[in-house]
Amino acid sequence: MNETFKKIKGFADIYGPAVAVFNKIEDAARDIFPRYGFEEMRPPILEATHLFQRSIGEGTDVVQKEMFTFPDRKGRSLSLRPEATAGVLRACAENGLVQKGNIARLFTIGPMFRYERPQKGRMRQFHQINCECLGTDSPFADAELICMLWQFLTRLHLPSLTLKINSLGCNECRPAYLENLRKYFARFPVESWCQDCQKRIVLNPLRVLDCKMPECREKTRLAPRLLDNNCPKCAPHFQKVLSLLEGQGIMAEVDHRLVRGLDYYQKIAFEVVSDNIGAQTAVAGGGRYDGLLGLIGGPDLPGIGFACGMERLALLIDDISAPLPDFYFLSLDDGLRQRAFDLCERLRGAGFAGEMNYQSESMKSLLRAASRSGAKFCLILGPDENASNEVIAKNMETGVQNIVSQENLPERFGELLNLRAKLIS
Ligand code: HAM
Repeated sequence: MNETFKKIKGFADIYGPAVAVFNKIEDAARDIFPRYGFEEMRPPILEATHLFQRSIGEGTDVVQKEMFTFPDRKGRSLSLRPEATAGVLRACAENGLVQKGNIARLFTIGPMFRYERPQKGRMRQFHQINCECLGTDSPFADAELICMLWQFLTRLHLPSLTLKINSLGCNECRPAYLENLRKYFARFPVESWCQDCQKRIVLNPLRVLDCKMPECREKTRLAPRLLDNNCPKCAPHFQKVLSLLEGQGIMAEVDHRLVRGLDYYQKIAFEVVSDNIGAQTAVAGGGRYDGLLGLIGGPDLPGIGFACGMERLALLIDDISAPLPDFYFLSLDDGLRQRAFDLCERLRGAGFAGEMNYQSESMKSLLRAASRSGAKFCLILGPDENASNEVIAKNMETGVQNIVSQENLPERFGELLNLRAKLIS
């Protein structure tokens, strides 16, 4: 019995126009990011599980429930990367890419894996464009990174995006704030919080602030705010970033509930959200993570970064139609196929795109195939044309035919294409 196979739940085959959209996103990244000194890096997709536990945080949803984790043949625990930051920092530390006194700026594009409940804009295999800037804690670096993200999103002409921002405090001011927050939560009976928040209050009280359940949201409306508790280092840093962004016309919305789902953030945290992609509104998220590089064995240097979800960006981009091929080459009998093959290779070598027929069929069905391919011209080689060292070039829109010499086919074909382009422009 022949077995049929299906893709894994939450994984997608990306093909057709979707590939053109993904390429457009990647092209914009590869054009914009190097203007800011960012270089591309391709770290592995599989890492030691412990790296993610240590960096993302044991108590986070990602580490607790969302990783694809399995032992290798020697029993070592490995995980498919749920995000890129941990792997990029590990690679920087291991390869000595960042030392005190220099700044490393790296971007990476590729698949990430999270065992989440799939829905529109939320996949188990999804793709991120991820940027990290390591080695500086200057607010100019924060503002520059966000400007870069904004230029990238603007380049993609995405409709109505909002930049939300918050300051999560640092190791100096956050512990006291968390204490305050717990005291505030304790004013309400434990059972009045949702099941998840009952655990969060103990493990990760910040996450209570962004709970979506109405009973929790109502209670946290008047909770102490992170910004009001920022220390004398965090508060001016935040204000400086806001004013630098404002100076560039980027009006960030301060969101007191923005806390992010990964434990490594300090100071600035931000998200870009859209109203046009359903329940999963964040198209990008990031922030500062001073201390993380040191935590995973690198030098104790600060860093900041972000990642965009490519599937979510793609939801906001209109379908891109694939470019039309220039020619479809018809050879009318088997004996002419070798000649057609040579001529097609010359045309492609000269930069034209097109395909040929491999079998002899009726003229009608060959022309139908040519028309299905969407080619601008059909090039026809029959015994008569071959005897006079020519081909027929038929404009598929107008039906007008020209006789073209095989000798200088690429040049003559180029002229016909230019003429066609002028006529339709
Ligand atoms: P994140 O917020 O977890 O941050 O993910 C960034 C973006 O990835 C999200 O805004 C969303 O667009 C996309 N995304 C996340 N999960 C899914 C999913 N299951 N399906 C589709 N898209 C998804 C991070 O990953 C951090 N590492 C970002 C960062 C870099 N922070 C500092 N440097």
